[in-house]
Amino acid sequence: MTTGAYRTAFDQAATDPEAFWLSAAEAVTWEHFPTRALDDSDAPVYRWFPDGRLNTSVNALDRHVEAGNGDRVAVIADSAMTGTSKTFTYSELLDLVARFAGVLAAQGVTAGDRVVIYLPMIPEALIAMLACARIGAVHSVVFGGFAAKELAARIDDAAPVAIITASGGLEPGRVIEYLPIVASAIEQSEVRPETVIVVDREQIPGSAADFGWLDWATEIAGAQPADPVIVAATDPLYILYTSGTTGKPKGVIRDNGGHAVALTWSMKNIYDIGPGDVMWTASDVGWVVGHSYIVYGPLLVGATTVVYEGKPVGTPDAGAFWRVISQYGVKAMFTAPTALRAIRKVDPDAEFLSKYDISSLTTLFAAGERLDPATYEWASEILQRPVIDHWWQTETGWAICANLRGLEPMPIKSGSPTVPVPGYRVRVVDGMGVDVPAGQEGSIIIDLPLPPGTLAGLWGDRDRYISSYLSAFPGAYLTGDAGILDEDGYLTVIGRTDDVINVAGHRLSSGAIEAVVGSHPAVAECAVIGIHDALKGQKPSGYVVLKAGTDITEDQLRKELVTMVRDQIGAVATFKDVTVVQALPKTRSGKLLRKTMRQMIDGEQYAVPSTIEDPAVLDALRDQLLDS
Ligand code: COA
Ligand code: AMP
Repeated sequence: MTTGAYRTAFDQAATDPEAFWLSAAEAVTWEHFPTRALDDSDAPVYRWFPDGRLNTSVNALDRHVEAGNGDRVAVIADSAMTGTSKTFTYSELLDLVARFAGVLAAQGVTAGDRVVIYLPMIPEALIAMLACARIGAVHSVVFGGFAAKELAARIDDAAPVAIITASGGLEPGRVIEYLPIVASAIEQSEVRPETVIVVDREQIPGSAADFGWLDWATEIAGAQPADPVIVAATDPLYILYTSGTTGKPKGVIRDNGGHAVALTWSMKNIYDIGPGDVMWTASDVGWVVGHSYIVYGPLLVGATTVVYEGKPVGTPDAGAFWRVISQYGVKAMFTAPTALRAIRKVDPDAEFLSKYDISSLTTLFAAGERLDPATYEWASEILQRPVIDHWWQTETGWAICANLRGLEPMPIKSGSPTVPVPGYRVRVVDGMGVDVPAGQEGSIIIDLPLPPGTLAGLWGDRDRYISSYLSAFPGAYLTGDAGILDEDGYLTVIGRTDDVINVAGHRLSSGAIEAVVGSHPAVAECAVIGIHDALKGQKPSGYVVLKAGTDITEDQLRKELVTMVRDQIGAVATFKDVTVVQALPKTRSGKLLRKTMRQMIDGEQYAVPSTIEDPAVLDALRDQLLDS
């Protein structure tokens, strides 16, 4: 283990978090600088910077303009789908954000109100998020690949007063019309937001007028810019829904102050990005990676962020990533391993790379799923630069384990996201909460309090926050991942210990897909498990038991179930596999043995649990799958 800057920072954050985080807070502009860092009066729920007051959009925009950097490029919006590229300076972005904040204010949106944002990867997504932050409203961005029912579930939970959307998104070979989806979601929701504002995209049919909604361009043209509303550091900035074990998504709450401090600290110390540098995160604003490192992180430090609408391959080719890096002088890029695997599949010898000058690139960061050694070796070989895995979750909002390139670069170990980031006291424990020896697998937990920027709770559900994360091991946060710490303190993340499936770096709940599959009239019961997929890491795979007397063919059933999941959850679920089985293995108390099934199907070693109701069911399933 290192004895340098990393160790010093880690130890200080662990032993004197007050001093460490108040010092980090100095990099943020406050209306009232916090007099203390941690409020532990409501433990195990902690709050950071309890008496601090600030505005996040001021930190992301106004202060850079006021410092004389208004002409610096804030956002480069590149669409491989429309073949267009547009830049916004900090002054231009501030003007648009202040005016759109004025539009929201004119609609009666005030501090604390929720606003749902359902937008594709266009600059208006950032403008809408920052405009909410400006007036203290709480945004909740919903990924465009979710269907109306999932959007409705989030509307019902967040109870927004307004929805910001667009006529649609562009996927290779097809146009996704958002307006019928939004209309259907509102129809299905119990909560009826009063205002819907629509960005009209010329490539996509449908406009605000068709639904009696407001048109973005018209509203913003006549808007009065809104001044920033100063909020408490502990006030919510956003809610972001993520999949849990059950079908009901969890609304992760992010605060304003801890978020600004943590992301600002991470930009320098993890990503080594500062004012004027170009960072490109090839994700989507609908995911946490997009919130933190397309929108807030780069803008908080006065860097330039690239907003990319397109895919790593096919838009138009496997050189898309290298084109963007060279065209905009990207210094740090962040993507998901699945995107690298997609490029390697099409262009294993990286012939497209030789067409571009990527000399600006210093580091490639990966997260969302484990950076598997084969992909790591390939990417490092073709790029000849550090390729850095780092591990985090929607809940934490920033990296738990990383190789801190700006603080103290460390040797890379293939397959490991390196070491715990200062502020995260990571442990690997057995079922009793006792640390396992180095090299042994266990549950990954983090001692409380978590550092600033991590979840402040679950929206409207304090009990679920405590029961899901804080109860299994009192005094610690349960990550839901299993892993191994080695003798140098490097972590390896093995995978989820719960029923969350990770498809192309997106988190899906097996329970949510099972609820849809189980609602088919021919299905008696079902299990949906995430099995290995060479491109996407995992894919959801359904195993169904038919009701007695049902005569539907397996092929027809598959077609119907695939359509149902697509219509009710969304294309992002990528649900395509259905297998009819005689029975499903369960424990004596009726719990599905999903993990055992997954290990068996993936060809891993598995132990037959002592709690199994009928071992013959598992044997029959294995024989059937071996035969097929
Ligand atoms: N709106 C509507 N539909 C969307 C969508 C969006 N924003 N994003 C994806 N979809 C659809 C796709 O069109 C596709 O539909 P199809 O089944 O009709 O083809 C389906 O959802 C699955 O999409 P995707 O996961 O993107 O798969 P793909 O096969 O089109 O592309 C990859 C594969 C690897 C290129 C792609 O998954 C990728 O780039 N992944 C990066 C993941 C990422 O950024 N993760 C964020 C965490 S860091
Ligand atoms: P999400 O909340 O969608 O970001 O998903 C978080 C989950 O993705 C984690 O709990 C892990 O299971 C997985 N994950 C994310 N990044 C990594 C990584 N670098 N290595 C291994 N697993 C990861």
